[in-house]
Amino acid sequence: MIEEFRKVYGSVEGLRVFRAPGRVNLIGEHTDYNLGFVCPAALQLATYVGTAPADDGKLNIYSEQYRMGGEWPVSEVAHLQPMHVWIDYPLGVAHELIQAGFGIEPANLYIRSTVPEGSGLSSSAALEVSSALAFLNGRAMEPLELARLCQRAEREFVGMPCGIMDQYISVFGREHSAVEIDCRSLGHRDVPLPAGITFVAVNTMVKHALAGSAYKERVRECAEAVEGLRLQLPGVASLRDVTVEQFESVANVLPPIVAKRARHVVTEDDRVERFVAASAAGDLELMGRLLVESHRSLQHDYEVSCEELDFLVEAALGIAGVYGARMTGGGFGGCTVTLLQPEALDDFRREITAAYQRQFGKTPAVYECTPSAGAGEVTSPQTLIF
Ligand code: GLA
Repeated sequence: MIEEFRKVYGSVEGLRVFRAPGRVNLIGEHTDYNLGFVCPAALQLATYVGTAPADDGKLNIYSEQYRMGGEWPVSEVAHLQPMHVWIDYPLGVAHELIQAGFGIEPANLYIRSTVPEGSGLSSSAALEVSSALAFLNGRAMEPLELARLCQRAEREFVGMPCGIMDQYISVFGREHSAVEIDCRSLGHRDVPLPAGITFVAVNTMVKHALAGSAYKERVRECAEAVEGLRLQLPGVASLRDVTVEQFESVANVLPPIVAKRARHVVTEDDRVERFVAASAAGDLELMGRLLVESHRSLQHDYEVSCEELDFLVEAALGIAGVYGARMTGGGFGGCTVTLLQPEALDDFRREITAAYQRQFGKTPAVYECTPSAGAGEVTSPQTLIF
């Protein structure tokens, strides 16, 4: 990466490299913007941003993946408008930093990522958080403020009304551990994974065009559910506040589609709590069953799955050594996550690949998930793991 940086910018004087990971969400899908619970793990797949001071008064950004970038006098950065391409993520972060009182210094940035884009493994948050650290270039910011600032960049500049999960786990990821996040208090606790299991993500290699618009529609439907439920259950400020029993006693006041959406969120929050307890108890069978229940709920009630994701889940459940599987991330393509015995991994990889190829004529990428540390500076070349 250092050599590539030199090729693009001519010099590596003052170069520092920052890393921010992607994530796999084990359980707790579409609960974050309802202020509920999620249980993701940061991945070894990450975005790396190299930065060095520029002497041309500009902010220069280059992406290795896209083989292109842009350059702007730093005084113009605050006035840029979104361009509806990848560069909106770093530019949105630069905007938010300026608003928060952090100036943007003239700099050369080089971006390399191993998080597959559009895969539901949160390449956007990895790009936002690594860019933020590169812009800060050693200036201190509270980790929670960093996560929130990157979320604001995505909501306000990119225009995607996302929750806090992806940016949060990219900042607060832990080695060897998933993390349960309370999306209201913004506190978290580690969820060490019991011995005898591993997780893999399997990539459908598709991202259906519907993903962005359907996400916004679900956010709206959940807000509508809260309005309706509040009439019956005063004090309800988000779906997080409703228990499964309360919900079922009043669900009939909601329009049927809205009730289905809310049922997913309310039951999913409950599943996260049960999953964390099952993990602590080492109950691998129950952890697996909860993943499958989560998938069914996303498939039938929340309706954010798709043919390719459903196929990968069904196929995984037919392979020896698998405890459970579900779609992960926003949906409409991207990845599934499968919980399985480590010794079953090689056969799983072979069988799921063959089954998917037969069905869709595409080769799915299979990533073994190693829970990894959250974002930070890369201080030795050994930690640059590609
Ligand atoms: C996307 C969003 C997250 C979250 C998930 C669904 O990844 O960025 O905030 O809502 O979808 O759980």
